[in-house]
Amino acid sequence: MRVLVIGGGGREHALVWALERSASCTDLFCAPGNGGVNCSVDLDITDFEAVTDFCAIEAIDLVVVGPEAPLVAGMVDDLEGSGTAAFGPSAAAAKMEGSKAFTKALCDEMAIPTAAYAHFTDAASALAYLDAQSAPVVIKADGLAAGKGVTVAETMDEARQAVIACFDGAFGEAGASVVVEECLVGEEASLFALCDGERAVLFGSAQDHKRVGEGDTGPNTGGMGAYAPAPIMSEAMTARAMNEIIEPAVAGMKGRGTPFKGVLFAGLMITEEGPKLIEFNTRFGDPECQVLMMRFDGDLADVLMRCANGDLSGADIRWRDDPVMTVVMAAKGYPGRYEKGSTIKGLDPTDPDVMVFHAGTVRGEDGVVRANGGRVLNVTARGTTLQEACDKAYAAIDQIDWPGGFCRRDIGWRALG
Ligand code: AMP
Ligand code: GLY
Repeated sequence: MRVLVIGGGGREHALVWALERSASCTDLFCAPGNGGVNCSVDLDITDFEAVTDFCAIEAIDLVVVGPEAPLVAGMVDDLEGSGTAAFGPSAAAAKMEGSKAFTKALCDEMAIPTAAYAHFTDAASALAYLDAQSAPVVIKADGLAAGKGVTVAETMDEARQAVIACFDGAFGEAGASVVVEECLVGEEASLFALCDGERAVLFGSAQDHKRVGEGDTGPNTGGMGAYAPAPIMSEAMTARAMNEIIEPAVAGMKGRGTPFKGVLFAGLMITEEGPKLIEFNTRFGDPECQVLMMRFDGDLADVLMRCANGDLSGADIRWRDDPVMTVVMAAKGYPGRYEKGSTIKGLDPTDPDVMVFHAGTVRGEDGVVRANGGRVLNVTARGTTLQEACDKAYAAIDQIDWPGGFCRRDIGWRALG
């Protein structure tokens, strides 16, 4: 199979790494890739015609779309329309990530447990509704806002300001409609299921670390580290989340005539009453994908092709027992302003259980790797215990020579105690 991966983050480097190990994948391309990916092709992934043309010329059998933006914009529809199989949802199904109001309505329809909510398209009615609520309360821009559209307001003043900021255009079109939600209390976990439009097959759990600072403090980021599996997702809790959240969502999307194909990523709050949905994403998490790929032990190209073809029934999905941890190294200043271009050395770990997935990096003609983004490296390790995986990841980080970068030193604290 000739496979093209779309994207250039740590998630896509991990997908490329797993596909290189996949028996049914014979040729591999990644657009645009990054400094760690050695099969990068120079292709503008916002130009869907250029992508479909590339697939025709290169006889690509399967496209694996990593990020949400091209999914929401309909890249999979275009690829399928031109005869290329693609892993990922149609634009209509990617609304599960692209619109919070859409997902809330789906939850109502299918009785999926989630936070109580109200949806508004003007500031005056949202503010009037807030007058009858009490803090804490959650304010969400409806559309895609690069992970920045959510405010967990500790005071009503903060809640009102968040509503006003949304309608004043702080998140552009994404904030033209706003969801106000009950604040859920519990531990967060991520659950992944591969879907073929009809079936959903468990693809593991993970826990992310969204805040930039140790002890889960400071501003939200794309994710500063993750591990898999998530201890809180016991077999029983996982079964509940599959039965009460994932399966009804897949059935609801099929019933609407917009079946969901690809990976469904449920952000969960494990409350006293059980798992509740915080949000759906319609792609692999980043950095969650990095730990899932290092645990996966099957033929990835075959499994993803079965999703694309609507037939997961015979898929061989196997896992290594070993837990995996990834620690993100980011450019100093992230998630605020940061510099690009600093040199990174010491990127070749000697431990076979460690893999450094690149995210925002470029490799110069001189072979030197330089920082080229906010989240830059994902130092990923497996161990016989999570503690061992953690120790190996930090030992590899200590070998990396990058004065322009930083990482959290406490990834895994919740599971390691
Ligand atoms: P989201 O972009 O929807 O993943 O939200 C970002 C983060 O906000 C989540 O990971 C949670 O930590 C938090 N959050 C979102 N919705 C809620 C909620 N209803 N209750 C408590 N925390 C929430
Ligand atoms: N790490 C969270 C996400 O990918 O949305």
